[in-house]
Amino acid sequence: MSVPIVDRQPGDPFLVGRGLVKNYGSHRALAGVDLAVRAGEVLAIVGPSGSGKTTLLHVLAGIVRPDGGEVLLDGHRIDQLGEARRSALRRQEFGFVFQQGLLIGELTAAENTALPLLLAGADRARAMAGAREWLAKLGLNGLEERLPGELSGGQAQRVAIARALAHQPKVIFADEPTGALDTRTSAETTDALFAAAAQTGAAVVIVTHDRELAAKAGRVVEIRDGHIAGGVLVG
Ligand SMILES: Nc1ncnc2c1ncn2[C@@H]1O[C@H](COP(=O)(O)OP(=O)(O)OP(=O)(O)O)[C@@H](O)[C@H]1O
Ligand SMILES: [Mg+2]
Repeated sequence: MSVPIVDRQPGDPFLVGRGLVKNYGSHRALAGVDLAVRAGEVLAIVGPSGSGKTTLLHVLAGIVRPDGGEVLLDGHRIDQLGEARRSALRRQEFGFVFQQGLLIGELTAAENTALPLLLAGADRARAMAGAREWLAKLGLNGLEERLPGELSGGQAQRVAIARALAHQPKVIFADEPTGALDTRTSAETTDALFAAAAQTGAAVVIVTHDRELAAKAGRVVEIRDGHIAGGVLVG
């Protein structure tokens, strides 16, 4: 596999995309991308608007099926699985943080955070206790019973991060997670995400336009026109 990246991160590649192609009509959003995510690393994906960053994230996470190439998790192809199996895999192995946290407005911070644990079959008391622990780790003590509408943007994103981490996924996928936040809140939120992921050993794949944020990643890959344009080792 040719990945044009200087890579000095420890950890084995366990989520691997090979030759990924994705077409939308006549538009080729991914034009043969090779990318391996290593255990515990923070990998930033940067590139211009429309270059294929979100598409790549969604293909790696099993949300979107590629038209060509393959995605392997721990050596097993996941891109060929049916929708039900991919959906179960996403719930169990992956966590997601989007630009707007997509919290459920009628549920409290603690209930939102507990959702993945409940979906994984934990009983309610245990799920709520786990959720409170994660909220505390993200500095949200005392805000457990607030509704999303009663939180600041940064607080709401930290709830979204707690929710993404609560079931201890192997990978957190984050697509512009601080895109709606000011610079300072953005830095605090990212630091909280990276610190919390490091505690569980989860890898983070983060799409960002923010250079300061990308500079905190272990590895940065740039996408242009559906190709990996280059890799830069930072930090
Ligand atoms: N569902 C879709 N249907 C048709 N075209 C799509 C679809 N999703 C993405 N595209 C196109 O594929 C290309 C890559 O889109 P993608 O969302 O991956 O870009 P991006 O790098 O995430 O951009 P941004 O930084 O603006 O979020 C774009 O040209 C986009 O218009
Ligand atoms: Mg995008």
